Amino acid sequence: MGLIVSPHIKIRPDGNRAILFSVNPTNSIYGNCFRFLNPAQAITLSLFNGKRDLTDVVEIVAYLFDLDTQTASHEVDALLSLPVNNEHTIGTFIIDVSDIDIKSMRLYDPKAFIPDKNQLIPDDPRCNIPCSMIVLPTMRCYTNCRYCYADRNGFRGKEFDVPLFKDLLRQAKNCGIETVNFSGGDIFCRSDAFELIEYTLSRGMYPNIPTKYPLSKDQIERLSEMGLSTIQISIDALDSNIIDDLVAVSPGYGNRILQTLNYLGEIGIKVRTNTVLTPYNIRDAINLAKYLTKQPYIIKSNFTCYGRSIYHHHENMFCPSEMIHIFKNDFDKIKNIFPAKIFFSGLVSDPYKGDEAERTTRFSKRSFCTASRRGFVVLPDGRVTICEELYFHDSFIIGDLNKQSLMEIWASPKAMELAHPSQALVPDGACRDCLDFRTCHEGLGRCFRECIKSYGIHRPHWPDPRCPKAPIGNRIA
Ligand SMILES: C[S@@+](CC[C@H](N)C(=O)[O-])C[C@H]1O[C@@H](n2cnc3c(N)ncnc32)[C@H](O)[C@@H]1O
Ligand code: SF4
Ligand code: SF4
Repeated sequence: MGLIVSPHIKIRPDGNRAILFSVNPTNSIYGNCFRFLNPAQAITLSLFNGKRDLTDVVEIVAYLFDLDTQTASHEVDALLSLPVNNEHTIGTFIIDVSDIDIKSMRLYDPKAFIPDKNQLIPDDPRCNIPCSMIVLPTMRCYTNCRYCYADRNGFRGKEFDVPLFKDLLRQAKNCGIETVNFSGGDIFCRSDAFELIEYTLSRGMYPNIPTKYPLSKDQIERLSEMGLSTIQISIDALDSNIIDDLVAVSPGYGNRILQTLNYLGEIGIKVRTNTVLTPYNIRDAINLAKYLTKQPYIIKSNFTCYGRSIYHHHENMFCPSEMIHIFKNDFDKIKNIFPAKIFFSGLVSDPYKGDEAERTTRFSKRSFCTASRRGFVVLPDGRVTICEELYFHDSFIIGDLNKQSLMEIWASPKAMELAHPSQALVPDGACRDCLDFRTCHEGLGRCFRECIKSYGIHRPHWPDPRCPKAPIGNRIA
């Protein structure tokens, strides 16, 4: 049988190179994958078209690149063993064509990956064209969660209309983006929510929706008829009184959101859940975990400790570490029975902890910052920023879809300056004279969100709190 690249993964040209990325990391069996490929690597992968086996591909590689068979075989093996995240190599995605639905098959034209000599770009960690998108359709909510990190009071303007959204999707699709990651606010607080979701699906794109809205049976049936197959319900406890207390709405909400879960199960929409752990729900969260794992329609449940909010932080929302240890102990017993269903992101480590050597090691292992390098965030009025939690912060607004095209925004001087900051413009703080400035910013990056959480809204230019040169700042988690 022939081999093919899994449809969960997409390969597209990006200037003089190509990128390989997860189409929808939230719903993918492979999680979040990303890698730059050189043209020869992209061309080789495009040869896996469902009709050829490994030997056929090796033969064509030998012919195309003028190699003997043994060298070509070695090159293909080396390509397939390249990592794309902590768990997977490229080889994991090369699967038998009979294992996939023919309609989802992606075929690539090898010629699309031949670089255009006029388009040469330097080795840049930033994608020439963005490959992921978050859309905040509104900052309004049904609930008023006490722990919420969203800057819900930062926006009072007019929300973007359906034509702007349609044009955004057209432009995003031209970039190869197929997933609309909604956040907010709660999309269902918009009167045209169903129109936005239906349009997304009709364009062959997939909407990832997180919500706390107590959807009725009729509304869920409508979503199912449109083709929505998964949704995230954010739920913090099994005891409805605790839910009501944490999300600060009138009594009865807790029971209604539990009922919404049941309706989703009955109608056949698969559910992911997210639970924020605070001292007020962490004990009941274990009952919730037990309940969720027993529901066949629930595919994945995440539990995360409260993280500092930039906009309305409450110190009493942090869980004491003893509470987290007790939770983890009980959680692990459930996790042993349902390893693929429930996940706890664990105690977020204190970024300031340890001596210089320990902090240096931790800093060198930080995750890659994608802000202004792979993805962008559309705000409710059509302005564009680089990271969800930065919301309306002026320093990070890179454009406005009411006035510019997506690619004009992505290539704007502001977006470029954020992706490649100039050290000469840093007024104070440890980064101003740091000799590692270039490698830090051109490599894994300095997380602006964490800088602001640690040192305040006016210090986005201060060091990443995990950096060994960073001073001790606010508690983060
Ligand atoms: C900001 S909300 C937006 C989507 C929607 N309103 C909801 O609540 O599902 C996205 C997710 O972040 C979680 N969240 C909110 N504030 C948080 C915080 N301070 N720490 C960790 N997670 C938080 C929410 O519970 C929700 O699952
Ligand atoms: S967590 Fe979600 S639903 Fe709750 S207030 Fe924040 S944005 Fe709204
Ligand atoms: S975060 Fe640390 S390593 Fe990076 S530029 Fe600032 S001081 Fe230098």
